[in-house]
Amino acid sequence: MIAYKGDILYAPTPDRFTVIENGYVLVGDDGKVVATGGSLEALLEATSRGDSDGVDVADQSCTTDETDSITIVDRTGSLIIPGFNDLHVHAPQYPQAGLGFDYELLPWLEKYTFPTEAKYADIDIADHWYRRFITHMWQVGTLRFSAFATLHNEATLRLMQLCQESGLKPLIGKVNMDRNSPNYLVEDTDDSLSSTEQLIQQSRKLTPDIGFIITPRFVPSTTPELMVGLGELAQRYDVPVQSHLDENRNEIDWVRELHPDIPTYTEVYEQYGLMPNNRTIMAHCIWLTDRERAILKDHGVWLAHCPQSNMNLTSGIMPVRRNLDYGLKVSIASDIAAGHEPNMNRHIVTAIEASKMKTFETGYEHDRPLSLSEAFHMATKVGGSFFGKVGSFEPGYDFDALVIAEDESLLELSPEERLERFIYAGSSRDIAERYVSGRLIDKPFA
Ligand code: GUN
Ligand code: FE
Repeated sequence: MIAYKGDILYAPTPDRFTVIENGYVLVGDDGKVVATGGSLEALLEATSRGDSDGVDVADQSCTTDETDSITIVDRTGSLIIPGFNDLHVHAPQYPQAGLGFDYELLPWLEKYTFPTEAKYADIDIADHWYRRFITHMWQVGTLRFSAFATLHNEATLRLMQLCQESGLKPLIGKVNMDRNSPNYLVEDTDDSLSSTEQLIQQSRKLTPDIGFIITPRFVPSTTPELMVGLGELAQRYDVPVQSHLDENRNEIDWVRELHPDIPTYTEVYEQYGLMPNNRTIMAHCIWLTDRERAILKDHGVWLAHCPQSNMNLTSGIMPVRRNLDYGLKVSIASDIAAGHEPNMNRHIVTAIEASKMKTFETGYEHDRPLSLSEAFHMATKVGGSFFGKVGSFEPGYDFDALVIAEDESLLELSPEERLERFIYAGSSRDIAERYVSGRLIDKPFA
């Protein structure tokens, strides 16, 4: 076992941080947290008595020095926090980050996104830019993410292989699009289905740590036949689904024109079998009706709130408080490249800022802004829960962690205040180490 020593900070619930100053996270050989606490002796005693969910450690020594069975990784003075989990990102759009934000969604797709994604037909271009993308995600401490790739199989498999090599553990989806798309970036329906199935099978053999996620781009670009076929694949292979929902008002009008017999955008996905229970991510969800909230809740859908993207493309401000009060699972996500930077620090801050803006419209009583612990919880544990027990340091959770060695401070700061300073004013330069499932992950492709 390994005991990581430092100022331990995580958010098992939205309302407050759990802080153990100068404490320990005890991690088993399987990379999972055994227990956390302030004294190693007490922790070991508790775990050997079986007070925690942990392994049997009765025969192991209790000294704080390195012993046969316990290694101390001493990071005294640093914060140890869960890694970030980004439930909505477009890996191929990384090179267009920062472009086209005088446009709204549909013209932005036409002018910048489709031309960028089309370039990934060239495997050398894909290889180059996917390496840069993965390296940047590593740098900013996003250890798990759910990514859209492009419709190209070869490039998507390469992205999965590069992620496998990097030690990060994302979900990756080949994008499906067979209607209302430019002639240089569109698929035949049958080819789209068969190539998706082929990729699911290949990835199971070649990239065991990388999950596959079914990824219809959005309703306007997928025919009913394709949606039904993808829903069947999701069932047959027991894989998750991700897409976009209720992002932009012109997009919503378009969905209504395409499916006049279906009452809401949400119900299009539902009726075509693309909302498997407890394994679906829907990005944006800005303009939900209560009818849609009820359906999303019924299906246990994760909402990926992408506030930087929503401001960049003038899409709207998600009523995040209303969604949380309704009992929906809301995570925070980058939506690269409609969001222009991957750092989850920024997206946490922007989510808080957007929630404050919302209170100006709706009144503080109805729309209390997000607190730091809530937003941090959304960016760690809520996103992480899509991957299993990830995003917290409770017993049984994968030890996905960042060691934050911040800059000096003029004031005496508590661990919470140091986290706040890192989130608002810090950068990836403050991240000294990154662990995924208990494994130290070095800079990829170095
Ligand atoms: N809707 C359909 N495609 C996209 C995309 O690439 N980005 C965003 N933000 N919304 C979309
Ligand atoms: Fe998106």
